[in-house]
Amino acid sequence: MSRTVRTRVAIVGAGPAGLLLSQLLANDGIDSVIVDQRSRADIEGTVKAGTLEYGTVQLLIQSGSTRNAATVAERHEGIEVWFDGEPHRLDFPALTGRHAYLYPQHSVLIDQIATRLDAGQDLRFETTALAVIEGDQPVLKVEDAEGAYDIVADFLVGADGARSLVRPVVTGSSHGGYFREYPYAWFGILTAASRSSKELMYSASPDGFALISQRTDSLQRMYFQCDPETDPDSFTEAQLWDELQKRIPGKTLQQGPITRRDVLRFRSFVASTLRRGRVAIVGDAAHTVPPTGAKGINMAVADVVLLAGSLRELLLTGDERPIDAFSDKAMKRIWSSQHFSWWMTSMTHRAPDGDEFDRHRQLGELRTLFSSEGGRRYLAEYYVGWPFETVDGIWTAPAPVAAA
Ligand code: PHB
Repeated sequence: MSRTVRTRVAIVGAGPAGLLLSQLLANDGIDSVIVDQRSRADIEGTVKAGTLEYGTVQLLIQSGSTRNAATVAERHEGIEVWFDGEPHRLDFPALTGRHAYLYPQHSVLIDQIATRLDAGQDLRFETTALAVIEGDQPVLKVEDAEGAYDIVADFLVGADGARSLVRPVVTGSSHGGYFREYPYAWFGILTAASRSSKELMYSASPDGFALISQRTDSLQRMYFQCDPETDPDSFTEAQLWDELQKRIPGKTLQQGPITRRDVLRFRSFVASTLRRGRVAIVGDAAHTVPPTGAKGINMAVADVVLLAGSLRELLLTGDERPIDAFSDKAMKRIWSSQHFSWWMTSMTHRAPDGDEFDRHRQLGELRTLFSSEGGRRYLAEYYVGWPFETVDGIWTAPAPVAAA
């Protein structure tokens, strides 16, 4: 017996983008079905970045998508950028009136999943999307342990990550878009250690880039620039600590057992368009950025805010103008974030084929940027993020209350 499920919006992918979209739609009384081929445990076990923009956190809270921000999200009022052997601090409140958050993205995701399930969201794990059939009533062909069936919707959204099944339907080919490859990657570790500093430290050292990030008081995330072909098992623990410590001379790193290691490859990609007919893509399905600056999830949230409003107009009032404008509007912020991620990366990493000219020029840029208040503000504004564009205009998060 073939089963058919009917919903207003079919969403592929139970990541931060798909889950937030279902929340915003539900807030407007629009039902959706989310499918994801992974199990709940797999999704919740994926290691993600640790920081979020100010507006992203405010929006996740205000929409009701997360409930644990008050206890888990930590206010981070600055970062240190290390070059010339010393730290240069960006003071976010002084420069922007806002701050960033240390709010590990996998805790956001765990919270989003629990919140949607508690609200009765139709969320189907271990259900693989097989194909999309376009039309006024797009069809998502899926398969689970019991067999194959169709989900028929008024609109279909691919929030299904970098290897998106939905993207080719929207762009016309699996590679439809703009690419940039980088000659380096990050070697990442998780370590059961105490914090090495109060704030995150980004280091542009003669030996290459390093980032000392955090998760909790007793778990830290650290990265150093490496060759993309590096085998994660080719380093001993002692070698990993040497590599990290060498790149941040002048600061003694707190060490602990290394509980996880991985190599993150860098890629920039922006799809040529985010919508075709009644099918759209958001988040990593639509764009990927290098990890420097942790823009990925923030970009996904910005796409979803705009798409949710466009779908509300389309599905509740029949107004097609917002969905027609969705892709062009979303692209403006996508390219700003794309630029930031590329720029933070180029300014702090050593290209393998770079020479002493490049190194001195890079230091020239960093010194000039940090010696100017305008320069520091420019970087800080990018880092803490901008207001969101919505269908009704700009959404500015409420101003922060003074730090305790
Ligand atoms: C992380 O904690 O994983 C992280 C933080 C900041 C970045 C990138 C990654 O810019």
